[in-house]
Amino acid sequence: MNENVRTDRMGDYMSDRKIEKILVTGSVGQIGSELTEELRNRYGSDNVVAMGRRTKPSEELLNSGPFVWCDITDRDKLNIIVDEYEVDTIFHMAAILSAVGEKNPQLAYRVNMNGLYNILEIARERELRIFGPSSIAAFGPETPRDNTPQETVLRPRTMYGVTKVAGELLCDYYFNRFGVDVRGLRYPGIISYKTLPGGGTTDYAVAIYYEAIKHGRYTCFVGPETMLPMMYMPDCIKATIDIMEAPLENLVHHSDFNVGAMSFSARELAASIKEFIPEFECSYEPDFRQAIADSWPKSVDDSAARNEWGWVPQYDLPAMTEDMLYNLRIKLAE
Ligand code: NAD
Ligand code: SER
Repeated sequence: MNENVRTDRMGDYMSDRKIEKILVTGSVGQIGSELTEELRNRYGSDNVVAMGRRTKPSEELLNSGPFVWCDITDRDKLNIIVDEYEVDTIFHMAAILSAVGEKNPQLAYRVNMNGLYNILEIARERELRIFGPSSIAAFGPETPRDNTPQETVLRPRTMYGVTKVAGELLCDYYFNRFGVDVRGLRYPGIISYKTLPGGGTTDYAVAIYYEAIKHGRYTCFVGPETMLPMMYMPDCIKATIDIMEAPLENLVHHSDFNVGAMSFSARELAASIKEFIPEFECSYEPDFRQAIADSWPKSVDDSAARNEWGWVPQYDLPAMTEDMLYNLRIKLAE
């Protein structure tokens, strides 16, 4: 066993339990929808229960395996679902993101904190494994912004960021105190073409591709020099599954891994699209999300993820832009 493993409670029950019956909360969302699809491919359609709240799921999601409706704050109903489907692992993707969270911080607190607490308590009672994502939003303006270290200042200024720091601490507490095998990543901004993002600060990096194809122009809500860490969805799904499949004894960290893939400014993103659509024009009208973006890192040091569970991203900006434009053109023509 790695002598750095941060626990005094590593009980028998939590060492490398198999992943067999999965619940994905937030399965209708940007990441949850593609994660559910990949988990169903890997673990079998009937073994992956997708959970939604109000948003209508795609026909593909609805018809490819079990689907349940539940509010993450309703622990009684969550208990019933977990028992009925004999769930052993939860990928907990239900959340309120940064921009929506700044407009309604009370909602962000309620969903993100109470939701995670419910999931952790259910895991504690039933000895489940949990994936609980964090974010670059855990950092704040006092954090070093270039190559942000794994261990550093965590003083976010958004309610979303506050819930992510508290969530990381809570997850580590449940690991150390109760032996719950809970793992998580500090995702950067995630870019994808299948499901639209749900109200984050990094949504411009998705919207720009849609608008480039549809209208040949985009008005970006952060300034041209705004640089943030980003990741293409295939890498996000790979990282999420890889961390959950990593041997527990290899992990020093658990719920707070930095994971990087690429970093670029809004101007560089627009330029990469212009390589494929020369007439594309991007203008900039920063709004309240600029201040949020300015409080986040430009790039992250993900050496802990590389060393502990072999993280290596596949996509850089040119490869992502080519794939995004190719797939979005097909989608928007349908
Ligand atoms: P999303 O907004 O696309 O999806 C979240 C889902 O949660 C939605 O389908 C929503 O209906 C559901 N939800 C909201 N309130 C709920 C409630 N009360 N009960 C049940 N479900 C509820 O978000 P996402 O981008 O897929 O993010 C998934 C996770 O990854 C979140 O924890 C998010 O903070 C984290 N993350 C995402 C990004 C990103 O760029 N997408 C970056 C960093 C971290
Ligand atoms: N993409 C997310 C957001 O902007 C980062 O956590 O909210």
